[in-house]
Amino acid sequence: MILEVKDLEVYYGAIRALQGISFSVEKGEIVTLIGANGAGKSTTLRTISGLLVPRRGEIFFQGQKITRLPAHKIVRMGISHVPEGRQIFPNLTVKENLLMGAYTRNNRAEVEQSLEEVMTRFPRLRERAKQLAGTLSGGEQQMLAMGRGLMSKPTLLLLDEPSMGLSPLLVEEIFEIIKSINRQGTTILLVEQNAYMALQVAHRAYVLETGRIVLHGKAEELRANPRIRSAYLGEVEEQDGV
Ligand SMILES: Nc1ncnc2c1ncn2[C@@H]1O[C@H](COP(=O)(O)OP(=O)(O)O)[C@@H](O)[C@H]1O
Ligand SMILES: [Mg+2]
Repeated sequence: MILEVKDLEVYYGAIRALQGISFSVEKGEIVTLIGANGAGKSTTLRTISGLLVPRRGEIFFQGQKITRLPAHKIVRMGISHVPEGRQIFPNLTVKENLLMGAYTRNNRAEVEQSLEEVMTRFPRLRERAKQLAGTLSGGEQQMLAMGRGLMSKPTLLLLDEPSMGLSPLLVEEIFEIIKSINRQGTTILLVEQNAYMALQVAHRAYVLETGRIVLHGKAEELRANPRIRSAYLGEVEEQDGV
């Protein structure tokens, strides 16, 4: 088990955003958390990466308790978080943005090598290395955010809504990239409102509703589940005799 989340409760002031959720991710998997807007998906990722402190519950990464560790230590241990809405630095160049992702690393030769690897994975970032990040298209900004996330050489990559706001063609491209990152050995926890695509690429899935996990299983099983089909895959439930 690479990640284990146990009974996590997270509050924003008096609002309990996570009501005691538990789930796990095995090494090599793509696991997806799906759920409607406001279900608590981003809160879960922010808590894992140390940006939010839970009121209750524990998080273990590779057997070590990481609950309440500061974010930079969690990055060093091997977890990288690609946040919702990309959060790139618009006034820095593409290359400068990528280098920000390596802020916890101090071996320059190794950082250069990672930069080379990321630019090979994302040729459009290489072409635009000197361009200001704010001038990139939405899809390119998503690639930049993912590239920056890879610059810390994570064991576990947390992806928050990578397909948000992208055209169908770009969504396909981003999901292909997610699969290839995973095939090359990075474990992925993927948060998506686009349940259709998430259940195509993931091995397993958890369904989050108002801060609780209401269903989990193999992605292919959830794809076939009538409740998932009507609530998340935009299908109308079949009625008897129609
Ligand atoms: N910064 C915040 N302050 C107060 N409430 C928040 C904040 N961020 C999120 N919430 C609330 O916490 C709940 C979960 O939000 P979030 O994790 O962003 O959901 P999701 O990512 O699934 O859309 C929602 O009810 C949301 O309104
Ligand atoms: Mg969110």
